[in-house]
Amino acid sequence: MPDTTTVQGSGIDLVAADMAEVDRVIRQRLRSDVALINQIASYIIGAGGKRIRPRLVLLFARALGHEGQARFELAAIVEFIHTATLLHDDVVDESSMRRGRQTANALFGNAASVLVGDFLYSRAFQMMVSVGSMRVLEVLADATNVIAEGEVLQLINMHDPDTSVNDYLRVIRYKTAKLFEASARLGAVIASAPPSVEEACADYGRSLGTAFQLVDDLLDYEGDPTQLGKNVGDDLREGKPTLPLLMAMERGTEVERTLVRQAIVNGEVERLRDIAAIVRRTGALEATRDAARAEARKAQLSLSSLHAGRAKEALLELCVRSVERSS
Ligand code: IPE
Ligand code: IPE
Ligand code: MG
Ligand code: MG
Repeated sequence: MPDTTTVQGSGIDLVAADMAEVDRVIRQRLRSDVALINQIASYIIGAGGKRIRPRLVLLFARALGHEGQARFELAAIVEFIHTATLLHDDVVDESSMRRGRQTANALFGNAASVLVGDFLYSRAFQMMVSVGSMRVLEVLADATNVIAEGEVLQLINMHDPDTSVNDYLRVIRYKTAKLFEASARLGAVIASAPPSVEEACADYGRSLGTAFQLVDDLLDYEGDPTQLGKNVGDDLREGKPTLPLLMAMERGTEVERTLVRQAIVNGEVERLRDIAAIVRRTGALEATRDAARAEARKAQLSLSSLHAGRAKEALLELCVRSVERSS
């Protein structure tokens, strides 16, 4: 299993007991009469993962003084939604490794993965209804809708080397940052925070989520599969025009630019070593990491009006660890 301690930091100490309760809720809510659903859902959820999104719900709820039961349900809900997107994403990306194991699609097939992803999405909505808040439903319905838009936008950009940095940023804000934003916002919603505070929490989530995906995209070129728990090179195979490649084209020589363009158009994963070398030589990896650092800094600044305390400290530290991570 990948080492998950790098992004958890002191946040894990602070909400460790709460996270154990979230795990209990997750296990309880996973149940279905259909054996294959239990098998696949437990397979992917039991593999772990960093559990960052539920941690955001818990840390913001705590930072804003909420200690009710709803926080556990909401934390489990965002992890279910996240897991559903992973099941679907691995089918779309034809990925074979996740969380240090074979992906569900590799083991159980595409159809079963997509359908169990749907089960997790709809179970998450059943749980939202049980929370009984129209505002919670609104936040999560909007988030899931935007995530789907992000995945479709990404599909449109696939194999297109002329994708702009703005197009790319829109994709990652939709497919990844939106759920971070919703998770942070929900912590504020259940704490009945005033609108200005809720917006500051949402801003934090959006910036952190953007930073997080920027790093994910660079790790697809320089990461270690054992540490990551997933393969590298998947983005190149799919011809995804991510920031490391866009930057490499901008900074590279004519020859390098042509090689990267071709690799995007044809999804040339067999050229991964050459492309990774270009991405490194042009400083595109460092530039991507710098872009992530700038987003993480923005996330930290969003917390300026939050009361000082251990929850705030953990949220600040999460920003650093999310960009300096290697897993
Ligand atoms: C993976 O998310 C998908 C992205 C948004 C990059 P995580 O890196 O949070 O995945 P787990 O839950 O820790 O496996
Ligand atoms: C994140 O993008 C996908 C979702 C938000 C579901 P990636 O495709 O880069 O995520 P990984 O690398 O497969 O985890
Ligand atoms: Mg993927
Ligand atoms: Mg990735």
